[in-house]
Amino acid sequence: MKSKEWLNRQKNDHYVIKAKQKGYFSRSAFKLLEIDEKYKIAIKSKNTFEFGASPGGWSQILLEINPNIKITAIDLLQLKFNHKNIHFFKEDFLNFDFNKIVQNYDLVLSDIAPNTTGHKSTDHLRISYLVMNIINLLDKILLKNGSFVTKIWKGSEEKEILKLLNKKFKNVQYFKPSSSRKDSSEIFLVAQYFNK
Ligand SMILES: C[S@@+](CC[C@H](N)C(=O)[O-])C[C@H]1O[C@@H](n2cnc3c(N)ncnc32)[C@H](O)[C@@H]1O
Repeated sequence: MKSKEWLNRQKNDHYVIKAKQKGYFSRSAFKLLEIDEKYKIAIKSKNTFEFGASPGGWSQILLEINPNIKITAIDLLQLKFNHKNIHFFKEDFLNFDFNKIVQNYDLVLSDIAPNTTGHKSTDHLRISYLVMNIINLLDKILLKNGSFVTKIWKGSEEKEILKLLNKKFKNVQYFKPSSSRKDSSEIFLVAQYFNK
């Protein structure tokens, strides 16, 4: 999409306007809010790990719903706020040493997204690579019966991702928040009851 078109879309987007009014750092905040309305994941969590947390909209929602939650978050880019309950790492998770953190999360979230090329299948393969790496880390960081939510972009690898999750979780569901753009291939997978 051309930058002018993108700017126009942002200016008129209902969720961008609402995010500004509410003081959320991203319109993505509403996606987690909708996921949580249905699955009540945030209120039950004591300890959450967030992949791709910047600028910080999802962290804001987690803290709004559950002020006692502890969050460990990672992103290539800086988080836009500090909070005593957030331990943030500005790193590429692919090079991150997970041995240096406590590995007892009851909720793992990923809103991670690579830089897009505009070429649908390339972008799909790129996000799928990141998501598969995250799924491989779950055995290390997620507690038994824990939950995992990840964004994917629909495409050829989706079945493989679903297969991997169905092996590891009792319940896996697709969820498309109404705040996720209709014309986007974005969809979320909500996986619950991790079999460790
Ligand atoms: C859609 S944004 C996340 C928005 C966030 N959930 C929020 O509500 O503010 C996706 C993020 O993934 C991050 N990201 C992409 N590849 C990454 C990697 N390999 N390691 C860590 N973060 C990465 C990007 O820097 C970007 O900030």
